[in-house]
Amino acid sequence: MTTAYHTLRWQGGASGTLCLIDQTLLPEQFTEISCRSVEQVWEAIKTLRVRGAPAIGVSAAYGLVIGCQSHRSEPLARFLNRVKGAADYLATSRPTAVNLFWALDRMRTVANDQAIVEGMTSALLHDRLLAEAAEIDREDREMCLAIGRHGSQLLKSGMSVLTHCNAGGLATAGDGTALSVMFAAAAEGKQIHVFADETRPLLQGARLTSWELQQRKIPVTLICDNMAAQVMKEGRVQMVITGADRIAANGDSANKIGTYGVAVLAKYHGIPFCIAAPSSTFDLAITDGSQIPIEQRSPQEITHGFGKQTAPDGIAVYNPAFDVTPSELITAIITERGIIQSPTTESVRQHLQGA
Ligand code: MRU
Repeated sequence: MTTAYHTLRWQGGASGTLCLIDQTLLPEQFTEISCRSVEQVWEAIKTLRVRGAPAIGVSAAYGLVIGCQSHRSEPLARFLNRVKGAADYLATSRPTAVNLFWALDRMRTVANDQAIVEGMTSALLHDRLLAEAAEIDREDREMCLAIGRHGSQLLKSGMSVLTHCNAGGLATAGDGTALSVMFAAAAEGKQIHVFADETRPLLQGARLTSWELQQRKIPVTLICDNMAAQVMKEGRVQMVITGADRIAANGDSANKIGTYGVAVLAKYHGIPFCIAAPSSTFDLAITDGSQIPIEQRSPQEITHGFGKQTAPDGIAVYNPAFDVTPSELITAIITERGIIQSPTTESVRQHLQGA
C-alpha cells in the first residue's frame, strides 16, 4: 500500500513546476503549492513547507532544474554558471540534512560531465538535469520500500514502536524511512501500534506522524515528549525507530532534537533503539557526530509557537533543531541495503561498500 498523496512531485516537462504539500499547514489544511522559482524552493525548504532529509534532497534537485529553466537558450558556459549559482544558493537553505548536499553534488556532477559531451547545448543539458532529478526522486521511493522490507523483519505482531519527529512519507518522496518499516510490517499482517512523540517545538510528531499513521490506518497514540520515559517504564514500548538527517562514518546519527534523549531512555529501559535511513544520509567524510553542523532556528519557534506567545518578552532562548545520538546507543541502522547491527566505523564501511 502506498500513500494516496504526493509529498512532492514534478508537474509538466522541461518548463514544469515542483508541487509540494505545504506541511506547515497540516493537519488543519491539506494544500499543495507550486514552486516556479528557485527562490520559492529555497523558501519552502527553509520554512519547512517541505522537510525531512530525503524530501529536502529531492526538492533541491528539482529546485536546481527550476533555477536554470529560463537559461535554456543561453550559451553553455553561462548556463553552467547558472547551475553552479542555483546549487550554491539552495545549499544555504538548511545545514544539517546531508541529503541536500548529496543531491546537489550529484546534479553538479551531471552538469560538469555532460557539458563536455560533443554537441551539448544548454537545452539538452537542462533536459539531462531534469532526468537526473527524476531519477533521484525514483530512487528515493525505491529506497523507502527497501528500508521497509528490511526493517519489518525486526517487528513482531503485537509490538508497540515509539518514534520521534516525522520520518514518514511526508519526509521523503516515497513511503518514508522509520514509518516505512511500520507500513511494511502492517502490510505483512502484523499488528503494530505506534507511540508518536509530539516533537517540540514544531510538532512534526503531532501534526505529521499522527496524521500519516491515521491516513494509513495504523493505530497510533500521541504523547508529549516528556512522557516517553513513563511510557517506557510502564512497559508499553518494545522498540524505538527514528529517521536520521546525517550519519557519520562511525554511525553517530543526527536527527530531530530530542532523539538523543529518547535513545538514552531506551538504553536505560533495555529497549532496542533503531535508526532507519537511506545510504544518501551517510556522510563518510566525517568520522564522528561531533562534526555534524547543527541548525539553530529562530527563538520565536519556542516563544511564539503557532502564533501564541508562551514565554515572556526578551527571554533568552536556545533552539538547536537537531541532536546527535552516539552510535553506542544505536542497536541497529536499517538502510535500503539491509541492517547494520551495533554500528561501528568498520561495519558502516562494509555495509555501504558491499552493495
Ligand atoms: O526539521 P525537520 O522536520 O526537517 O526534521 C526532520 C527529521 O528530523 C527527520 O527525522 C529526518 O529528516 C529523517 S526523515 C526520513
